[in-house]
Amino acid sequence: MTAQDIKKLLEPIVDSDFNEPLSRLNAINNIEVNGNSVKVYLEIVQPVHWIARKLDHYCTTTITANYPSAEVEILVRELLPPEHKVLPLVKNMIAVASGKGGVGKSTFAANLAASLVQQGATVGLLDADIYGPSQPTMYGLSGQSMQAEKQPDGSVKGFPNEQYGVKVASIGFVMERDQAAILRGPMLAGYFSTLVDRIEWGELDFLIFDLPPGTGDIQLTLTQRIPLSGAVIVTTPQEIALTDVRRSIQMFRKVNVDILGVVENMSYFIPPDMPDKKYFIFGEGGGKLVSDEFDVPFLGQIPIDVRIREGADQGFPFVLDPEHGSHAAAIQQIAANVVTQLRRKNRNQQRTEIDIQL
Ligand SMILES: Nc1ncnc2c1ncn2[C@@H]1O[C@H](COP(=O)(O)OP(=O)(O)OP(=O)(O)O)[C@@H](O)[C@H]1O
Ligand SMILES: [Mg+2]
Repeated sequence: MTAQDIKKLLEPIVDSDFNEPLSRLNAINNIEVNGNSVKVYLEIVQPVHWIARKLDHYCTTTITANYPSAEVEILVRELLPPEHKVLPLVKNMIAVASGKGGVGKSTFAANLAASLVQQGATVGLLDADIYGPSQPTMYGLSGQSMQAEKQPDGSVKGFPNEQYGVKVASIGFVMERDQAAILRGPMLAGYFSTLVDRIEWGELDFLIFDLPPGTGDIQLTLTQRIPLSGAVIVTTPQEIALTDVRRSIQMFRKVNVDILGVVENMSYFIPPDMPDKKYFIFGEGGGKLVSDEFDVPFLGQIPIDVRIREGADQGFPFVLDPEHGSHAAAIQQIAANVVTQLRRKNRNQQRTEIDIQL
């Protein structure tokens, strides 16, 4: 067994996000063989949280199928895009948005953050909905304030509250709802900017912005000030929601923010006592329709499930409960699809490197 033998075995293995073999991606950086010990050094485009595990599995099983006594170790190095000036310690910034209110943006943002943490990522979640912050409730943090610290230069830094492994910050931690209601658009945008500047996130793989509905001042401030990796658009299936979604996609396009894809929420209902029935309460196929129309990826469907609403109200994101089975898996798959889209985008950027622990 030589390094060359191992390389030959691994070269045809496919990175499923790109549908290309490791050889073509130049992903096999080095192979060390010492007796029975095989060390494989891979270099892959981040975020690596899903693909690293898959490749670890494929590479290990391929090697041991051919050399049963081999002791295999796969070491992954992630390839990063160049650092940005705003929030340089955050690798990927995702806005969860929709033109329309009440379609499940906050619910999806909460569960996306939780799904990413389940894969071992470090995640921040910023609730940017000044009029109706949801994340303090959805993460069981209502009534909390943000810990703040005065800096030597007189400015104040705020620290997000960590819950279930997610760093959560909300305008709701620093401002009363009634107080927000009397602010005008530009002042609100100013508040929002201040909030974003003053939070000490530390190093993050993902920062998720839960946006208020519409295409107003907050959305514009965010897209102008923050180097977003992209936006995920949430919709429900019916035509009346799609009209607003179109407006939202057009806004992001106008300010050159990539659309990572469309998520359709409340797609169907399966009665728990009649599992072979499926009701399309809000119509069928709207999310797919609008993603085809704008030629953006369709990321998946989330069913209507009482437990999703209960999780939101009780402050425990639905996907974190291992009992929640296939509906939780549907949301986790959407999170994986978001990561696939990010990797496709990140691949085209200049790279620096960082080692990660599997
Ligand atoms: N798939 C689902 N099944 C059941 N209930 C859901 C689902 N998605 C969202 N909900 C519920 O629908 C309500 C609205 O969801 P949510 O607050 O996430 O929407 P939103 O788009 O963030 O609203 P807003 O525009 O006000 O910010 C909440 O009570 C939530 O628990
Ligand atoms: Mg919301």
